[in-house]
Amino acid sequence: MQQLRAVVAEEFELVNRLIIDQLHSDVEMVENVGHYIVDAGGKRLRPLLVLLSAAALGRCDERHITFAAIVEFIHTATLLHDDVVDISTLRRGRPTANAEFGNAPSVLVGDFLYTRAFQLMVNLADMDILAHMAQTTNTIAEGEVLQLTRAGEPDTSEAQYLDVITRKTAILFAAACYGAATLCNRDEQTRDALRDFGLNLGIAFQMVDDALDYDGDPATMGKNVGDDLMEGKVTLPLIHTLREGNADEQAVVRQAITTKSTARIGEIIAAVKRCGALEYTRDRARHYHDIALQNLARLPDSDARAALASMTALAINREH
Ligand code: IPE
Ligand code: IPE
Ligand code: MG
Ligand code: MG
Repeated sequence: MQQLRAVVAEEFELVNRLIIDQLHSDVEMVENVGHYIVDAGGKRLRPLLVLLSAAALGRCDERHITFAAIVEFIHTATLLHDDVVDISTLRRGRPTANAEFGNAPSVLVGDFLYTRAFQLMVNLADMDILAHMAQTTNTIAEGEVLQLTRAGEPDTSEAQYLDVITRKTAILFAAACYGAATLCNRDEQTRDALRDFGLNLGIAFQMVDDALDYDGDPATMGKNVGDDLMEGKVTLPLIHTLREGNADEQAVVRQAITTKSTARIGEIIAAVKRCGALEYTRDRARHYHDIALQNLARLPDSDARAALASMTALAINREH
């Protein structure tokens, strides 16, 4: 990751500075909660996608710095909201904002970050970007709601799962890349190539996240394992186990989903591993990784394009 950042090191530093600047508010609680989550770090993958996409098109300017901060603000807002909804207690290696400050401050400061992102977008004064980001944030909200309504529903199909992760996660990766190309005034073909790349990378990224929820190391991930099961979330590892597991395994998984219970998490992790569900999930992630690389091949060769390809590999080999 450090090597990837080095390709756009100066710009990356400017984005981080802008993010800190733009957290400013004269309402103390806003700054406290905002800094709490932002200062914990995070991989800053989405701003990096903006900068590298722009660099791959040969021009990364001030507007891309602003756009990169916008995308990270939107991402951070969704994390604040997501941890309330998922009742998660660990994020970026520390207690979640909801655990530390409570649900109400998390939701409200999440709103602050969302709206600050749109204030920054006004400065860009680009109607295409505004329309695309309005659509994107709306779709993310739909994705989270759709996931909520499917929670506890063991008959969720793989296609329905794909729909949810596309909306809740991949669409923002796509927007990061698409927006970068739009700010470079690129033609539709180039914008679409980058958008498709981001979308497929985002799908792969979320699939790996869902595998890690069953076999990751909390210390490395900075998040707990088993959060998805606790919410009755039917992710790809469980969909595969419900298909390929033996009768006992299927029954245990089905019951855990419908009751949203982690009481038998040990047995469930064992079942998920035994029937190859993690390999299957990672195989599907690799499939989208491969498509993302094909999308990338539509751009001219450059160091930044190579960095985007490495980032895609990293997304599927990551442990945090
Ligand atoms: C977490 O995203 C939410 C998902 C889409 C899985 P990241 O893993 O990019 O979170 P940070 O920003 O690095 O903490
Ligand atoms: C993340 O979904 C998607 C959004 C934040 C919109 P998850 O619930 O899987 O993410 P983590 O595992 O909490 O980071
Ligand atoms: Mg979550
Ligand atoms: Mg997760």
